[in-house]
Amino acid sequence: MKDFSELLAKAKALAEDNPWPISAFANLSSLIYNELEDVSWAGFYLAESYIKSTEAQDSDRLLLGPFCGKPACIVIPFGKGVCGTAAAAKETIAVKDIELFPGHIACDEGSRSEIVVPVIKADKVIGVLDIDSYRTGRFGDDEKILLEAVVRMLEKEL
Ligand code: SME
Repeated sequence: MKDFSELLAKAKALAEDNPWPISAFANLSSLIYNELEDVSWAGFYLAESYIKSTEAQDSDRLLLGPFCGKPACIVIPFGKGVCGTAAAAKETIAVKDIELFPGHIACDEGSRSEIVVPVIKADKVIGVLDIDSYRTGRFGDDEKILLEAVVRMLEKEL
């Protein structure tokens, strides 16, 4: 098992006692993008209901939030793409080969694998953490454990 304890400690330091969630989302995106190998994009999509502080609707959508990497798609409905599917299911989805995920939304033609972890507060999905790689099979069990730990830690700070 890979040792991500240092990265997790850095993530905690960036999210702790942070009065403005958007700053935490931005810094965590930067940390993951810069310190996890072979990552082509790292960032957050945020639920429109969270951004606007309204009740969640069936029509809720994910809107592009803070990220590092190339410009990306702005709107993803719940249930669509890897991000919207993970948000609707309230479960992490790791896609080893995007060609094998029919609903995958290609923001960057070079992307080959992806992992999406929903961010949940009071039982409501407020957004997702999305990480992409140009390498097939980049995200395995170790990365899933790391990224879920980062998100569980973040949720406590929100
Ligand atoms: N591939 C994602 C879209 C977002 S980009 O990867 C940044 C999806 O299928 O939801």
